[in-house]
Amino acid sequence: MIDKAVEKRLNDQINEELNSYYIYLSMEAYFESESLDGFATWMEMQAQEEMEHAMRIFRYLNERRGRVKLQPIEEPKADWNSPQEAFEDAYEHEQYITRKIDELVDLAEEKEDKATRNMLEWFVEEQVEEEASTEAIVDKIKMVGESGPGLLTLDNALGRRQATDE
Ligand SMILES: [Fe+2]
Ligand SMILES: [Fe+2]
Repeated sequence: MIDKAVEKRLNDQINEELNSYYIYLSMEAYFESESLDGFATWMEMQAQEEMEHAMRIFRYLNERRGRVKLQPIEEPKADWNSPQEAFEDAYEHEQYITRKIDELVDLAEEKEDKATRNMLEWFVEEQVEEEASTEAIVDKIKMVGESGPGLLTLDNALGRRQATDE
């Protein structure tokens, strides 16, 4: 039987991942409205990944005979002033999620819950990639600056992201 405090925090993390899904879906809609189809595709893939993250914890909690309790998803921000602003938000959000995962690891260790600690290892590694990929895109957007052709080239590159890419 899983520790009650761990169960509660895993449920909170399912909610964080679903909130992430919603945030990136909202960013997808923003990019669609700006005719930046490649940026939108990238965000669609990102959103799908977040849903998978939520389901990973969902399945784990069921396996541990814990009780999944879904919580309300917050209304996401709908508009950004620029692609740079949206990706800066994404990078900031991933840093926030990393802190949440780290707190969960601390709790699992405190409760000596080795199975949860083990399951979280995947998330620890995933967050390194999540921060790196969003930060790299912020850097690239800064490089192209106000350049229309630069932004279109970047849009093309981001549009090549596949569902299987990490
Ligand atoms: Fe995630
Ligand atoms: Fe993420």
